[in-house]
Amino acid sequence: MNDTEDTSNTSNNRTFENVLAAHLSRRQILIGGLAGAALTFVGPSMARAERGVVATSRTGAFVGARKKARIAFTSIPLQASAMPTIAPEYEYSVLIPWREKLDGSGDAFPYAGFTSAQQAESIGIGHDGMWFFGSNKEGLMCINHEYGTFPHLNGKKVPASLEDVLLSQHAHGMSVVKIAKKGQKWKVVNSPQNRRIHANTPVKFSGPAANSDLLKNAAGNPTLGTINNCANGYTPWGTYLTCEENFNGYFGSTVSTWSPNSIQTRYGITAAGFGYEWHKWDPRFDLANPAYANEANRFGWVVEVDPTKPKAAPVKRTALGRIKHEGACVAVGQGNRAVVYMGDDERFDYIYKFVSTGDWKKMVAAGKSPLDEGTLYVARFNEDGTGDWLELSPKNSALSSWKLEDILVYTRLAADAVGATKMDRPEWITLGANGELYCTLTNNSQRGTAGRAGTNTANPQVGNAWGHIIRWKDTDKHIGESFSWSIFALSTEVTDAGGQMYGSPDGIWADPDGRIFVQTDGDQPGKNNDQMLVATAVGKEFKRLFTGVKGCEVTGVTVTPDRKTMFVNLQHPGDGNPANSNFPEAFTGATGPVPRDCTIVITRKNGGVIGS
Ligand code: FEO
Ligand code: CA
Ligand code: CA
Ligand code: CA
Repeated sequence: MNDTEDTSNTSNNRTFENVLAAHLSRRQILIGGLAGAALTFVGPSMARAERGVVATSRTGAFVGARKKARIAFTSIPLQASAMPTIAPEYEYSVLIPWREKLDGSGDAFPYAGFTSAQQAESIGIGHDGMWFFGSNKEGLMCINHEYGTFPHLNGKKVPASLEDVLLSQHAHGMSVVKIAKKGQKWKVVNSPQNRRIHANTPVKFSGPAANSDLLKNAAGNPTLGTINNCANGYTPWGTYLTCEENFNGYFGSTVSTWSPNSIQTRYGITAAGFGYEWHKWDPRFDLANPAYANEANRFGWVVEVDPTKPKAAPVKRTALGRIKHEGACVAVGQGNRAVVYMGDDERFDYIYKFVSTGDWKKMVAAGKSPLDEGTLYVARFNEDGTGDWLELSPKNSALSSWKLEDILVYTRLAADAVGATKMDRPEWITLGANGELYCTLTNNSQRGTAGRAGTNTANPQVGNAWGHIIRWKDTDKHIGESFSWSIFALSTEVTDAGGQMYGSPDGIWADPDGRIFVQTDGDQPGKNNDQMLVATAVGKEFKRLFTGVKGCEVTGVTVTPDRKTMFVNLQHPGDGNPANSNFPEAFTGATGPVPRDCTIVITRKNGGVIGS
């Protein structure tokens, strides 16, 4: 979603209203200290944790990658075109567009007369986060379907029947689809693993809040579905994590006197919703229907899916909290603990991490999920470049009167209570080559405006129109309760001969060589198209590898094990309007085909590693 979200965080925690001067001097230090050199984080225990991977400086401070990664391709200009462009050393092809059948035939259901039943057995819309589990030749692609609105879905302005709502519901969720390289092209192949998971698929809850009364509806209401599946994660035990972001927008009220309570307001729930109008046809999404009083609490979770088990229900992991989950970046921490870093994408919301109680291998061997038992934290970014992970449990004195299960269902309110740092819309988080985390903060037009939180050193720009990327490193190899952080890049500082290179950073992925792939969603300089850039972690050189089409977002990134094939997504090309783009078909204008969300397969013409 672009910068049009509700702003629901009106809590009074630390806002650092008066630190602009401090921030300016600190920014100079950060830029001076990082430009063209190694990134430096303090904390001697980090050096221990990263032994063998990194060097230790004279003072014992952690020093990240020293070598600048190779990005030798030709950076291309910004574009406002109806078709994508790619660097001349690269080429692309199209895979799994919306409505393609899962049966490997390569056929798609036609747009005219497309039914909800057909949607349930074909690729959904709103391609977003994804992960490829496979070899250089074949494997299972898990792909999220975040977003799909009318009239893009079937030409109607709003749903006019339950069938229209079912079409929209089945377009959301995710797909598991087997793909294979046939000759030079990747194609869908028929497989028992191919499946659709959507808004009406049976799901399960697990973890400390699974039996909470806050997740119960009137007797007999089954737990169904996943929606607004934005970014993703994957685990060392081979599962996929799909993350529920703007779930609030699918709910609405059929009763004009209904209004949200303060907790619902904190989650952005309103009587009108975002205009999907599901609630007018499906009582499950009607906030005024007492039989479904807690239905909205059943969304906003990280959902685990085993792509190899097509009959297994997706599992909502309550230990990871309920927020507008952007993504879930899993790291293996000290003692083989599973650590999950997560952003809550709303203006002035927070960054979280979860640490499993034990070694993930031992937990899995004992039949436990490492995502069911552990500690949830929220980040506080201190002015001096340090940070603290604040525990979200009754052990924290600020939450001593809360039950853990309530903290996990009303996580935003718990985070407000402990004094987390309000961020500029945390989107994706990725794990860098030397254990540092990168998080895109896409933008925040309300930062520092009247009545809103002011700047702080981690979010230093008033009315942050273009966004920035922050990075940090935790103590004790991801499991410690403190970290060191710096700003990787303010979008306004990243320029080439054409001026500012990008805005609204969103998708981000770090490769093991020190390359950072940055994808955009929203305003770009000169009103140009969204894009994907490649940066170096050391030196912070940026090049533009790919530009999307008018109206689209570029999101989702995964590679084959040899990193010679990369998959990215074009979401809502042309904003669904053929006057803007007919992609993946060649552009013929408003009378051409409705554009289709799809995956883009990127290769280097010389067979090299993507980004090189
Ligand atoms: Fe679904 Fe925050 O992007
Ligand atoms: Ca976004
Ligand atoms: Ca989006
Ligand atoms: Ca996003």
